[in-house]
Amino acid sequence: MPEHDHPGVAGWLDGVNLSALAAREGTPLYVYSAPMIRRRIRSLRSALDGLDAGIRYAVKANGNIAVLQLLAAEGAGADIVSGGEMHRALRAGIPARDIVFSGVGKSDAEIDAALAAGIARFNVESVAELDAIQRTAAGRGVVATASIRINPDVDARTHAKISTGKAENKFGVSIDEARRCFSTGPQWPNVRLDGLHMHIGSQLLSLEPVRQALARIAALWRELEASGHPIACIDVGGGLGVRYREGERAPAADDYVAVIRDALGDFSGRILLEPGRWLMAEAGLLLTRVILEKRGTARRFLVVDAAMNDLLRPSLYDAWHDIVRVGDDGTREKVTYDVVGPVCETGDTFAVGRELPRCVAGDLVAILAAGAYGASMASTYNSRPLPAEVLVDDGRYAVVRRRQAFEEMIAGEQPASDWRDA
Ligand code: LLP
Repeated sequence: MPEHDHPGVAGWLDGVNLSALAAREGTPLYVYSAPMIRRRIRSLRSALDGLDAGIRYAVKANGNIAVLQLLAAEGAGADIVSGGEMHRALRAGIPARDIVFSGVGKSDAEIDAALAAGIARFNVESVAELDAIQRTAAGRGVVATASIRINPDVDARTHAKISTGKAENKFGVSIDEARRCFSTGPQWPNVRLDGLHMHIGSQLLSLEPVRQALARIAALWRELEASGHPIACIDVGGGLGVRYREGERAPAADDYVAVIRDALGDFSGRILLEPGRWLMAEAGLLLTRVILEKRGTARRFLVVDAAMNDLLRPSLYDAWHDIVRVGDDGTREKVTYDVVGPVCETGDTFAVGRELPRCVAGDLVAILAAGAYGASMASTYNSRPLPAEVLVDDGRYAVVRRRQAFEEMIAGEQPASDWRDA
């Protein structure tokens, strides 16, 4: 699909006919290519060859249990940011020893559950969090292993909402504060602080900021070791960008890993990577059916049956996703559309002024590169049930999340009849 076996051209994905699939399973429908996911993770692993490095897939990108199982079968562990993600990862069979826990606001209950499960490592983002882990670990009589997340203060040159490595962002601690944490380490006897972590942002299309940030981390690691603080693990985070738009250039795995090798080639501990988007985005698409074409006074709208609740990225980040008409034979005239969903907000727009083959009601359209931060960010806004998800592999498909039923959507809600005091 990515390197231009566009489903729009042939209407097939890994031997599965997308029109037949949509007819059977309905739309909107997320479709993930198992071969593509495997190719991605294998190419990253082969780029890492010779390094003592592990992949800790960022579950937030797409936490579907089947996806986690597929990635785990290829040797990935998990980077989690909530108790819910830990639940998914463990349920998918990812061993706790392959799970790292990131995030700026871990609750005591989440820390406790992670300690109980025996996860490998906490990526700690503040002194207050070190205090909380100390308290909880002491309560359990265990020693937690932790890395400190460095905020290297570099501009990742990505969308402001997904940029995380500048001093003004809420993430991590400054290099100075990290130094202080290591030197006052004995203050947290139930925390083994022996790692460094960073994650400067997502959808990075330039490797320069990664190089800069890694240089700072590497300098800190050397300095810490020289002052008697052995570093067992450096986690370089995620962030590697993908191609959302035909013609856009995203870094190759080899080039990305070369930057890691340059900075950490002589590091003798373990290197961890937390890719999310790069493994999943281009391996997925969102199939949606045209409900109607509408000619406004100023624009021509293509109203499809997927909406911002199914795929939020265009609304939230003005993100571009290529859109194709599935099975298009190239004979239809080209029309400039605003591609929109049925939700009652102007922001419910997938594309503005997009040239597409003329579409009519019932046509099938694919929104590409939707495998990451698509289904995982879906909601039921406008009381639209969560979409179904399927995994395709070698001419077959499996439903890996069934379409939510109305009753499932409202499960848990109840009339205000059981009044209590508090
Ligand atoms: N590690 C940490 C600590 C993270 O916060 C993230 C993403 C990752 C790894 C994975 O980053 P990736 O390799 O996927 O870039 N919803 C946004 C993306 C938010 C990313 C948040 N953190 C979007 O749709 O673009």
